[in-house]
Amino acid sequence: MKIAIGSDHAGFELKEYIEGYLREKGIEVVDVGTHSEERVDYPDFAKKVCDEVRNGADFGILICGTGLGMSIAANKCKGIRAALCLYPDMARLAREHNNANVLVMAGRLMGKELAKWTVDAFLSARFEGGRHERRVKKLEEIE
Ligand code: RB5
Repeated sequence: MKIAIGSDHAGFELKEYIEGYLREKGIEVVDVGTHSEERVDYPDFAKKVCDEVRNGADFGILICGTGLGMSIAANKCKGIRAALCLYPDMARLAREHNNANVLVMAGRLMGKELAKWTVDAFLSARFEGGRHERRVKKLEEIE
């Protein structure tokens, strides 16, 4: 499995932590930055992660302060279904019902453990298809 991860300055610390966690699990990680707490603009990193997903990464993970800017930016990219998830159950349902391919989290609102559980829930869930397939197709029609 290959995961692209990115953040702005407000998500940097959590991004580094989650990246380490994923590597410990043996997952291939592409870190598109940012690489410090110096102020940057979240849309730049949302685009980089979404490009990686569109070019073959299995999933993306994006982190900013609230997760809001990253989710707004990521959902403007064709083929991307980004879900802001603050709890593990949201992440599980984002995969099962929405077939989300980018997990967005909030660096300023979530503790490290909660974020780790949220990542685990996202990665271990599977899209259920069925009635959800029709709805996801309609998302593509909106694009
Ligand atoms: C940065 O200060 C903050 O605005 C950003 O990380 C994010 O929360 C935007 O939605």
